[in-house]
Amino acid sequence: MANDKGFTLWFTGLSGAGKTTISLIVEQEIRDRGANIEILDGDVVRENLSKGLGFSKEDRDTNIRRIAFVADLLSRNGTPVITAAISPYREIRDEARDMMGDRFIEVYVNASVEACADRDVKGLYEKAFKGEIKEFTGVSDPYEPPLNAEVTVETENEEPEESAAKIVAYLDERGLL
Ligand code: ADX
Repeated sequence: MANDKGFTLWFTGLSGAGKTTISLIVEQEIRDRGANIEILDGDVVRENLSKGLGFSKEDRDTNIRRIAFVADLLSRNGTPVITAAISPYREIRDEARDMMGDRFIEVYVNASVEACADRDVKGLYEKAFKGEIKEFTGVSDPYEPPLNAEVTVETENEEPEESAAKIVAYLDERGLL
């Protein structure tokens, strides 16, 4: 039954760790295998579904709960989902896990603050270190790494293609593709 194939790959990690890049490679791989998939990317969600929300704990929690709500709706109807938001708080990620049960697959996109700041793709770390951006995750705001992620990718040592391949291999093992 098609609905058996729904799952949520819940990416979590710092800004610049590689969540978006890897999500796009995994998306392509899944499409190449003939399945549908939807991406809920933090930056995109904040432009529409979560427009107007900031980065206080309360606003982040609201953002993540909205993403979890949509991911649950889609995945329970057989559409695979990738969420790619920092989702810094363990408690709220666990809420999403409880909501989705076996469909929830936590993917820790791990890179140190130093590595993300070296890349500084958006130039935000420089501003955060100068204090020009308050409550910046990993610099002046908490990031709580997962304790039991189903998949961990180490983006300081892996190319994005290798990280994506690990994730796809996990899905294959679970018989989800
Ligand atoms: S989350 O904490 O609510 O999960 P989300 O992934 O949606 O965050 O948004 C993170 C993106 O917002 C970052 O990649 C960065 O581009 C931008 N951003 C702007 N201000 C901050 C901040 N204070 N902390 C983290 N990211 C920020």
